[in-house]
Amino acid sequence: MTSIPFFRAATSRAQGPVGIIDIGSNSVRLVIYEGANRMPSILFNEKIMAGLGRGLAKSGALDPQAVERALVALARFKRLAEDMGAASLRTVATAAVRDASNGKDFIARLSAIGLPVELLPGHEEAALAGHGVLAAIPDADGLVGDLGGGSLELAPVADGEVGEGVSIPFGVLRIAAMKAHTARDLERAVVAALIKAGWTGAPVDRPFYLVGGSWRALARLHMALSSFPLPIIHQYQIDPGEAVRLVRSLSQLDPKRVKNVGGISSSRVPALPHAAQLLAVLVRLLKPSVLIVSAYGLREGLLHRSLPADVRAQDPLICAAREEGVRQGRFPEHGDLLDRWIAPLFHAAPADHARLRHAACLLADVGWRAHPEFRAERGFETAIHGHWVAIDAAGRGMLGQSLFTHFGGEGVPHIVSDLLDDETIAAARRWGLAMRLGQRLSGGVAGPLESSKLTIDGATLRLELAGGDVALYGEAVERRHRLLAESFGLKPTLTSN
Ligand code: LMR
Ligand code: MG
Repeated sequence: MTSIPFFRAATSRAQGPVGIIDIGSNSVRLVIYEGANRMPSILFNEKIMAGLGRGLAKSGALDPQAVERALVALARFKRLAEDMGAASLRTVATAAVRDASNGKDFIARLSAIGLPVELLPGHEEAALAGHGVLAAIPDADGLVGDLGGGSLELAPVADGEVGEGVSIPFGVLRIAAMKAHTARDLERAVVAALIKAGWTGAPVDRPFYLVGGSWRALARLHMALSSFPLPIIHQYQIDPGEAVRLVRSLSQLDPKRVKNVGGISSSRVPALPHAAQLLAVLVRLLKPSVLIVSAYGLREGLLHRSLPADVRAQDPLICAAREEGVRQGRFPEHGDLLDRWIAPLFHAAPADHARLRHAACLLADVGWRAHPEFRAERGFETAIHGHWVAIDAAGRGMLGQSLFTHFGGEGVPHIVSDLLDDETIAAARRWGLAMRLGQRLSGGVAGPLESSKLTIDGATLRLELAGGDVALYGEAVERRHRLLAESFGLKPTLTSN
């Protein structure tokens, strides 16, 4: 007898959680991902700021106290990963362990407790940071920089590929140890290291993607200082000229304030001036067009690179929105249909709007699980603060506005009006109104959408229903049809065949 699978396999879900331990020069971290798929949820994330590379510049060895702290943490991480049923656990170590005279002893002690360590060479560390950025910003085109405690990795990315990367010894802990340096000294040293690594002196002229805990914390500070309305670090953009301003602010701000302003952990604060200084030097030398923060880096790069090419090619925003839609919605797979149904109204829109609108449609049901009076808030909140990648702040604003409108929210939430211009808000509202019509007409099921059509015809917004479906054109449907037509400056018309 052939067995019929009872459950439909979720797209590209690997069996069981996957653990990655990253032994950095600053921090030692365990992340458990839900599975090896395109947009894995994080089940667990813990780090300690062990500071393995703290004394490296002076002694050439891993700091003995830091080693003991790291070993205690790593034994805990190993045990937790086992208890969480991690199907695989990869432990990688970077600059500090690589360069230290006692790095081998440290690795031997870890194998003795059953934790085999892969020691990553510098170019590999750089490549993985590049893959991490591509995992979260698939159309990234520029230079990736991963700032750690021990080293700075640089890798070019374009067309979904990572180019040859380099590693130079300018981690925040190393810069801190370069006694009495001036900005000029640092710049001279960085130039020498870059040239030695093969840099031709050419400007980047494209985005510079910021990876690593210290630059993330620096970006958080910038976000707070500029009162950015959305507390999402991923794909946060900074004008390159701001790097110099950050150096200045940091020299004037009391460290306590830095911590309070940005919600930055106190263990990060001492590194921030060095992280800012290095960034300012790199901006001067490399002349990037813009700075873009990536929340994903080496660990996500490891995961991403191991995925089959077809899974890697999926759009992580669409994958995540689809999963969230299924988790919170009523009728799975309805979102794709809804997207196709409203699409004829929007074919003149810019190309990047199409995928945002698709994501919005996949989330079109999320408010239903909320209290009826809070559907608009739930929809908005899910969209704007969701755990998405491959979307910037403006994209989140559009997603948020469309779901807010879709669930009957009146007007424009203030976060959205801070992020978007009026024309973009109007576009997102039209998506919401179109989704609202589709969901009301169909009650959230497939049949009525499959047998009907929405089009723009001259000065009218036409809804074509199959003859037998005219009964579906109730009052609420009619009202939504009218509101949608008005948002386009059109008249609603109904036809049946
Ligand atoms: C490190 O060197 O520890 C970095 O990769 C990560 C961090 O937390 O700075
Ligand atoms: Mg690192």
